[in-house]
Amino acid sequence: MQKQNVPLNAIFPGDVRQLLAKLPDGCVDLIVSSPPYNLGKEYEAKRALQVYLEEQTDVLRECARILAPQGAIFWQVGSFADAGSLIPLDIRFFPILESFGLIPRNRIAWARQHGLHASRKFSCRYETILWFTKGDEYLFDLDPIRVPQKYQNKTFHRGDKHGELSCNPAGKNPGDIWLFRNVKHNHEEQTVHPCQFPEDLIARIVLSTTREGQVVFDPYMGTGTVAVVARDHKRHFMGAELDAGYHSVALRRLKGEPDERGYFPNLKTLRDWCERKGKPVEKYRFDVQVGDKPTNRSASKIYPEGHHLEELARRLEYEEAAFAADVRGDERPVDEGMNGKRKKPEERTLFSE
Ligand SMILES: C[S@@+](CC[C@H](N)C(=O)[O-])C[C@H]1O[C@@H](n2cnc3c(N)ncnc32)[C@H](O)[C@@H]1O
Repeated sequence: MQKQNVPLNAIFPGDVRQLLAKLPDGCVDLIVSSPPYNLGKEYEAKRALQVYLEEQTDVLRECARILAPQGAIFWQVGSFADAGSLIPLDIRFFPILESFGLIPRNRIAWARQHGLHASRKFSCRYETILWFTKGDEYLFDLDPIRVPQKYQNKTFHRGDKHGELSCNPAGKNPGDIWLFRNVKHNHEEQTVHPCQFPEDLIARIVLSTTREGQVVFDPYMGTGTVAVVARDHKRHFMGAELDAGYHSVALRRLKGEPDERGYFPNLKTLRDWCERKGKPVEKYRFDVQVGDKPTNRSASKIYPEGHHLEELARRLEYEEAAFAADVRGDERPVDEGMNGKRKKPEERTLFSE
């Protein structure tokens, strides 16, 4: 792969098209991004869908060009809403990616249990991540991203393997429905950006599709989640961010130190630094802090994806029981929430915490 003249471990402060024009063919191993959705968010001007897609086509053509032969692209999008209609953007992006000879591997649903409640349609509870590869020789390393088996200790009941574990004790493939919590208030990674990636979602992609020392590119870096995760997992990063404010937050996140006012870009960076340096968290602040003092990590509720999957499974179980009660004409069972259903650690089989 050609790595000369490539600005590794840097975020270009400007339009990604200027950066792409300077990059040689095949210089990145993974592209992972969430482009502007054309929703008129504070960082984007809303344009006609066709104009938006033409611009995205130009960027994706260049992305396909700079991707190494064994490389992969993950494109995360939601929907385009206009005058009450809703167009899932991945449907429009799919043929664009195919038109550059890229090969589809997965369409991942990133589901959320919370969000705005719609009144004239079903509430939107997922976005998608399209995974395409440049060729048929591509990396997919399952081992670093396995999740616990549903029945971790299940054994064969008969035959030659009687008594042996019937499933891989290292865990299973996470599947294509992901439940990482999105980065909203109370999430320790939240910065001033309204649409950040959660780091654990990006880590799953980076760890399964790249090796140490390879290059991860995000054309729309925002506040630098992809850069932080790539760096933390010993990969190189590269990308662009048009907005000077978000660009400077991304650099502060990467630096991981308090600024001259004693502020951090988010609570996670603050906690990490205080833990490393043995400093008290109460002495520092972070950009989106609401209360008087930041809390210690031990006092916060930070759940892995498995928690949210368990929560979803429990909720569906409850809805089924409530529906069955309605059909029978019985009183509905009480929804005890996650607390009522909490098991002792040794009883947990579905997901570890
Ligand atoms: C959905 S956000 C990405 C957020 C990012 N994934 C994160 O975790 O912070 C899209 C970002 O693209 C930036 N952007 C929009 N047009 C751009 C362009 N032409 N070149 C570079 N960045 C651009 C916006 O300022 C915005 O921060």
